[in-house]
Amino acid sequence: MSQRNVTAIVLAAGLSTRMKSKTPKVLHSLCGQPVLFYPIKALKDAGITQIIVVVHPLYKREVGRFFGLRPQNDTTITFVEQKKPLGTADAVKTALKKIPTHTKKVLILCGDAPLISSSTVKHLLQFHDHNKADISFVSAEFNSESELGRVVRSAEGKVERIVEFRDASVDQKNLTEVNSGFYCVEPALLKKISGVKNANHKKEFYFTDLVSLIQKACALKIKNCEEIIGINTRIDLENARKALQKKINQRHMLAGVTLIDAESILIDQQVHLDSDVTIYPGTYLKGTVSIGNSSIVESHCFISNSKLAQNCHIKQGSIIEESLLEEGACVGPLAHLRPGTHLKQKAKIGNFVELKKTVLGKNSKANHLAYLGDALIGNDVNIGCGVITCNYDGFAKHKTIIEDGAFVGSDCQLVAPVRIGKGSYVGSGSTVTKNVPAGSLAIARGKQVNLEGYAKKIRNKMGKKTEENIEPSKDCHGLQ
Ligand code: UD1
Ligand code: CA
Repeated sequence: MSQRNVTAIVLAAGLSTRMKSKTPKVLHSLCGQPVLFYPIKALKDAGITQIIVVVHPLYKREVGRFFGLRPQNDTTITFVEQKKPLGTADAVKTALKKIPTHTKKVLILCGDAPLISSSTVKHLLQFHDHNKADISFVSAEFNSESELGRVVRSAEGKVERIVEFRDASVDQKNLTEVNSGFYCVEPALLKKISGVKNANHKKEFYFTDLVSLIQKACALKIKNCEEIIGINTRIDLENARKALQKKINQRHMLAGVTLIDAESILIDQQVHLDSDVTIYPGTYLKGTVSIGNSSIVESHCFISNSKLAQNCHIKQGSIIEESLLEEGACVGPLAHLRPGTHLKQKAKIGNFVELKKTVLGKNSKANHLAYLGDALIGNDVNIGCGVITCNYDGFAKHKTIIEDGAFVGSDCQLVAPVRIGKGSYVGSGSTVTKNVPAGSLAIARGKQVNLEGYAKKIRNKMGKKTEENIEPSKDCHGLQ
């Protein structure tokens, strides 16, 4: 549904002093996206195609870089600078000249209120039309400790004005209906903003004062007060994150994903999970992650910006970053896939194995204690316990190529650049510095020498027990 006659203004030029941060609050991250992403998304999802964002000159480039570069479909996002943050009324005033002439309704949202839903945006527009109001805004019942603006009504229940918490009398502070900062206004009436004064505690021009300057103001009171959480402090940021995370997790559960102890699982906004995926407690899926049908991610895993196909199994405590896993790949427990890892179908990575910029072919496995970096490994390859690709010579990184069907025995070092040929064997404990031709056996280790009876000599020399008087250990019968 398109709302082509509606223009939205998003206020995002405040200095975020209460956040005590170098980063403007609208760019703080919330479930993987900047705070400002969410009100813009709610507007787009409600069909609003014309959005003006008011930004502070110091942050214009930063905010613009993030939102300006994204494909926006048919939504136009325009940025206007508010030279000094003189208050919300002043912020709206700076946007007025950018409002297209065909605009029939102006929506105003706060860039620091990320939980607004698209249905509330649509509802506000309908409510405004239905009441033939001059200005409408969303309100909610909050506890009296909230520091949001209070809605003051007449004895008959008509909205008279909004009074800011700091400027409110004791009686007004006890009012529990609060202002969300989401408004719908008749464009012609916005010129009354010039009548707003800054005679208040903060010496700011409050947009809320417009309510008392306009004839018919109506408040749409919503039940879900979480939607109006505004972020002024880090405590608000955390409260908003919790509420948003709950919504995200519920969305996945309703789409057929099992989350065991959902409250302990962090899933970023842009994560995609197919049905029948199961996630165990304490796992964090960060950034752009997608996981295919019936995959399992066990407890305390961290997966960022990665794609996992169907039927993958990630065991406890594994870390996967910027990697691609094909169908049926199995990882962990306690494995680390660093950026550039690609596991092909049914490849298997076991505990204490680290991979970086490495392709591991179909059905290949590295089950224990290995480091594979800058390696191209074919299908059906076995990487033994303790194998290391020595990919860095102190100056540059070099490639290791291991062809299909090769078997690399335990505790080998493969000194790159090096190629292990198709179907070849590398004997355990080898330090491989030369290419291994296909089908051959490479052994590159010191030869074993057995000096008969030499152990007794050593013991005598060291004053230790001879082998005749070593008592058999109770636990080691097999060695007798
Ligand atoms: C505002 C409302 C308050 C409401 C609350 C809801 C006013 C005066 N008060 O208070 O009634 O309950 O939101 O969250 O409007 N901004 C600018 N330029 C400025 C000042 C602010 O763009 O000069 C932006 C901020 O970046 C922010 C939004 O406007 O995104 C709201 O400003 P903020 O200072 O956070 O207002 P509140 O004190 O929260
Ligand atoms: Ca605020």
